[in-house]
Amino acid sequence: MSIQHNVSLKEFNTFGIDAKAKYFISISNKEELIEALQLPQFSEYFVLGGGSNMLLTGDIDIPVLHINIKGKEALAVSSQGHVGIEVQAGENWHEFVLWCIENNYGGVENLSLIPGNVGTSPIQNIGAYGVELKDVFTSCTAIDIETLEEKIFMLEDCKFGYRNSIFKNEAKGKYIITSVFFELTSRDHQLNTSYGAIQQELESNNISEPTIKDVSDAVIAIRQRKLPDPKEIGNSGSFFKNPVIPKAEFEVLQEKHPNAPHYVVSDTEIKVPAGWLIEQCGFKGQRFGDAGVHKNQALVLVNYGNAKGEEILALAKKIQKSVFEKFNISIVAEVNVI
Ligand code: EPU
Repeated sequence: MSIQHNVSLKEFNTFGIDAKAKYFISISNKEELIEALQLPQFSEYFVLGGGSNMLLTGDIDIPVLHINIKGKEALAVSSQGHVGIEVQAGENWHEFVLWCIENNYGGVENLSLIPGNVGTSPIQNIGAYGVELKDVFTSCTAIDIETLEEKIFMLEDCKFGYRNSIFKNEAKGKYIITSVFFELTSRDHQLNTSYGAIQQELESNNISEPTIKDVSDAVIAIRQRKLPDPKEIGNSGSFFKNPVIPKAEFEVLQEKHPNAPHYVVSDTEIKVPAGWLIEQCGFKGQRFGDAGVHKNQALVLVNYGNAKGEEILALAKKIQKSVFEKFNISIVAEVNVI
């Protein structure tokens, strides 16, 4: 384990923000993690995974622990066709999905091409196209930063919700996830193609009996059309969460906008796509210096090159204000603003 000084984090966050880490420690196994957490000169740490869900608005003066622990392994296949898999925190999420598809393990194909690492996937319960991490997650192991002991979080311990978990609430900043366990299928895969865009994509490719690879390819094609590739244009995926509003409020909105897209969450609540709200406010495709709103998906803020975190944040605030003024709806950031 070695400490590097004044390291640019530009390559370590998908927004491509050029903030500096005063101390940068790459962690490739649990022993190194425990060692780093015992360094006597530090009491606080910044945990960095794939850097895909953060907006850095300044340099980081506390040590950055870059979790780079690698490895993925199928543990056991049951007679019911289920397979248990353990993946170390530093594995890239999409590479894990591709590995599953190569090995014919089903369950994560709808989550293709999501940026970030496996170890951070439980924090915000990543989700796309009708599937969330919680649907395939069984447990994760984590190190308690205070006691340095290992703790296992079972599915029910994690309190998963829409882009939410215990790791964003009461366990925030207290644990470092080191590996994640999944239960996938090794045959008779339960495909989830109910999300409209997936159906259309499969139909336009004349696929009537899709495999997990077909579903993954469809998701990849849809995402590539809608979402910017962070290697080309810096971004953190959806910048905001989709707001959930009382049904009565939605009915008022619907009177003015009969075609407003929406999803029914419960008898009393409706989720409205923030991308639509932002587009209605005229921001889609707009650019302010190097900060902008993506042209194909208004929910995604982008860095065209050298935007500072503060500039992206200023744009985000401007959007929030505008959406509130027009619709009386508050939209909140999904990414962690640091
Ligand atoms: N829409 C617009 N204009 C836009 C964008 C969207 O009008 O610029 C409307 C359209 O009517 C569209 C609807 O919003 O039908 C929904 O759009 P989309 O299918 O792109 O999904 P989303 O609700 O905007 C969510 C996730 C995405 C995930 C997709 C697909 C959140 C915050 N975002 O976006 O997740 O890929 O569904 O499941 O829930 C991410 O979290 O980083 C992310 C990309």
